[in-house]
Amino acid sequence: FKALGATPIKGLPEPIAVFEVLGLGPLRTRLQVSASRGLARFVGRARELEQLREARARAQAGHGQIVGVVGEPGVGKSRLCLEFKQLA
Ligand SMILES: Nc1ncnc2c1ncn2[C@@H]1O[C@H](COP(=O)(O)OP(=O)(O)O)[C@@H](O)[C@H]1O
Ligand SMILES: [Mg+2]
Repeated sequence: FKALGATPIKGLPEPIAVFEVLGLGPLRTRLQVSASRGLARFVGRARELEQLREARARAQAGHGQIVGVVGEPGVGKSRLCLEFKQLA
């Protein structure tokens, strides 16, 4: 966005801050936006991470693996995948 400053708008009593949309930013997902602001310390997923590590080890040994990650919105699926990617 480019800030265009306080701008009078027809029908509004006060000027409001107006921004011009220049294009897409680099952040695509909610988690990427959260990460750009600083994530809370990752806690309480040792067992899940271990299951992912085991699947990776089996895959590296030549037995392809698919892991399903299922849970309510906000429970931490994307974060778990992010932490696993960073380990890998
Ligand atoms: N184990 C965890 N420790 C700390 N914060 C977590 C953990 N799991 C998720 N969060 C945080 O909770 C929020 C929602 O998690 P997210 O992975 O986006 O959920 P989901 O993908 O399941 O909808 C994010 O800000 C994430 O960083
Ligand atoms: Mg998600």
